[in-house]
Amino acid sequence: MKVLVTGGLGYIGSHTVVELIANNYEVVIIDNLSNSEIFILDNIEKITGVRPIFYNINLLDSQGLEEVFNSHKIDGIIHFAAFKSVSESVKNPFKYYNNNLNSLMNVLNFMNNKNIKNIVFSSSCTVYGQPDKLPVSEAEPFKKATNPYAKTKQISEGMLEDFINFNDRVRGISLRYFNPVGAHDSALIGELPKGIPDNLVPYITQTAVGIREELSVFGKDYNTHDGTAIRDYIHVEDLAKAHLKAFNFLNDSEDKNNYEFFNVGTGIGYSVLDVINSFENINNLKLNFFFKDRRDGDIEEIYSDVKKSKKVLKWKSERSLDDMMSSAWRWQKNLANF
Ligand code: UFG
Repeated sequence: MKVLVTGGLGYIGSHTVVELIANNYEVVIIDNLSNSEIFILDNIEKITGVRPIFYNINLLDSQGLEEVFNSHKIDGIIHFAAFKSVSESVKNPFKYYNNNLNSLMNVLNFMNNKNIKNIVFSSSCTVYGQPDKLPVSEAEPFKKATNPYAKTKQISEGMLEDFINFNDRVRGISLRYFNPVGAHDSALIGELPKGIPDNLVPYITQTAVGIREELSVFGKDYNTHDGTAIRDYIHVEDLAKAHLKAFNFLNDSEDKNNYEFFNVGTGIGYSVLDVINSFENINNLKLNFFFKDRRDGDIEEIYSDVKKSKKVLKWKSERSLDDMMSSAWRWQKNLANF
């Protein structure tokens, strides 16, 4: 089977491509390298022994897409490509609405015209906002989105659902990721932020390697066991496997016209200090960190209810926080070689 992976050289995309190849899928990648590097393609080949077909195309370029779809019989799509910085989305909402929504529109339009049946979409737990109940299950309604990035994920899920209701040949799944961290065991692919990282774990590894002077811990007065905010960190390799399960679920699905959405997390909440402790202990390092004020727009606590993905997708996370922290650190150290 041939799978089109948009954003396939990105952080989660590249790990999923490796999983797909390991499971004998033929992969076609579209990625415009806006937040990825071409050496990731070489490293996917080093890991798998297969060089996926690659197109450097912007998903807003309909003509470019037409060429790809005319050259390959695509059986299904895993759509990762999107901008994902919360802070940038606040500064430049137009960029986020234009890219994230129009690229999904284009993908759906091609699915419609080229008779492609299956799509897995990258969503985020950000669609829940700060939920009333924890762990948060898929049954919880969306709260008001606190930034344009989050709104694009809410709107995209709605767009996908409406499209599937309209086109009864199509099936789709939104995967609501919690906080993906860590890197492939080979240390050949991992998270590759451009500029100053927004997210906790790349900031930690860059501080440990000396690229950043110090780590700021945003907020120590949350109502949590140590005063720092709580998230559900998930190993990126576990997350990649969830895509395989979701894609296979669509392929095997008897129900011809079906939209589903699943949480993809571990079900465990860790605080910022828990993450720092794990990083320091497993890697035998000391981090230079200081407490700062809360970061604007941050929620206090979120972690997933994973019953639905366990039951329906037969997927559950396997890797520990220590695993996430040791693989992230090996990747950071190895980056100097690329
Ligand atoms: N944090 C720090 N210092 C840093 C960076 C982060 O203390 O330098 C803290 C944050 O305040 C937060 C926690 O670490 O409490 C996790 O922050 P991240 O930025 O790594 O992750 P977020 O939970 O804020 O964001 C993630 C994704 C978003 C998504 C969001 C949904 O990156 O794409 O989850 O909740 F929208």
